Amino acid sequence: MKRLSVNIDHIGTLRQARQEKMPDPVYAAVLAELAGADGITCHLRGDRRHIQERDLDLLRKIIKTELNLEMAATPEMLKIALKVQPDIVTLVPERADELTTEGGLDLIKNYSRIKSIAESIKQNKIKLSVFIEADEKQVDYAKKLNADQIELNINSYCQKVAQRKEILRKIKTIAAYAQRKNLIVHCGHGLDYNNIKPILTVKEISGFSIGFSIIARAVLIGLGKAVSEMKDIITNIDGGVINEIW
Ligand code: PXP
Repeated sequence: MKRLSVNIDHIGTLRQARQEKMPDPVYAAVLAELAGADGITCHLRGDRRHIQERDLDLLRKIIKTELNLEMAATPEMLKIALKVQPDIVTLVPERADELTTEGGLDLIKNYSRIKSIAESIKQNKIKLSVFIEADEKQVDYAKKLNADQIELNINSYCQKVAQRKEILRKIKTIAAYAQRKNLIVHCGHGLDYNNIKPILTVKEISGFSIGFSIIARAVLIGLGKAVSEMKDIITNIDGGVINEIW
């Protein structure tokens, strides 16, 4: 079975844009689960630009599928992960002024820094995933870190349309290599309703972490209803008492 983990970060982005209480990423997670999501992903960033610790605490209590915490391999994040106990932690690289994650985590270059964080995660019975480029050596190091899962960075496949076939071949080769090493293979970053289709032919990839395209589409397909609700209130209610709408 192929699994979809819905990344709810950008519900948080919208909320934080006005420092409001709504839209609440926790509500969004519940809706995603009710619609069939197999997991919920969120990235707690050092700058807290979208997901807050309060969200993570509530998500842990409320969601019924797999909670995947994306985080940088830092002592601060490790402490939070061990407290919250997500089902799985995905280690990602993080740069303060990046718009979004810019590439896979280089496990070779950062091995000594990541090793003890990875060990603590595993010792605390949290599954470990690493977000990496499609590269054999990175897969070898994921294994060396005792990871359960890898998430292949699919972003260059999504962006470089002219090179898609070639990149897809490489992804398939690396996914098969990782599977032979008993790693669960997921992928993500930049997937949308169209570019995902060829990726579904890679049978070794069993999970997809998707955020932006789903949230962007939700805004558009939900906007009509939101506007008509407001129009209805303005047109039909003449200063009377109305139920509050959340
Ligand atoms: N996987 C990782 C490691 C990410 O950092 C992100 C972006 O937050 C995603 C998946 C989801 O990417 P997108 O929002 O483009 O679907």
